[in-house]
Amino acid sequence: MARKFEQVCEILERNNYDSNKLIPILQQVQEVYRYLPEKILTFISTSLRIPPAKVYGVATFYSHFALEPKGKYVIKVCDGTACHVKNSIPIVEAVFKKLGLSETKRTTDNMLFTLETVSCLGACGLAPVVVVNEDVHSLMNPDKMNKLIDELVKEDQYENATF
Ligand code: FES
Repeated sequence: MARKFEQVCEILERNNYDSNKLIPILQQVQEVYRYLPEKILTFISTSLRIPPAKVYGVATFYSHFALEPKGKYVIKVCDGTACHVKNSIPIVEAVFKKLGLSETKRTTDNMLFTLETVSCLGACGLAPVVVVNEDVHSLMNPDKMNKLIDELVKEDQYENATF
């Protein structure tokens, strides 16, 4: 936690505490925490001498900013028109079932996965499309989705293993 806070201070320094750089600062801070914690937003507002309401306004205006913690793996299932007609909804349902998620509960309790539905990702030729963090997975179906989740669980276990 402390280490992350140090990184926030470094980000502010690197940007010369310039209030005009609020958006890039928030982007860099979100990379550190994977979301924008309330306390950190208040700290940024004080450090940049910007009213908290303005900082919150920017953070809530742009959809790529998250004010709630997200899982390590953010699964974005595209539900734009092309993906929808090629059965994106069964993929969403498969994720709900496998991870015990629902329309209202989008992040697993162990903070490993967050499910989001998004509109067109601009890769309609590959529909239905799922993006996990930065990785694009094309021509998805519920079976492939289940296998992908298993692989991600293994990947996480491997990363956390002590050798
Ligand atoms: S509708 Fe899914 S990528 Fe375009």
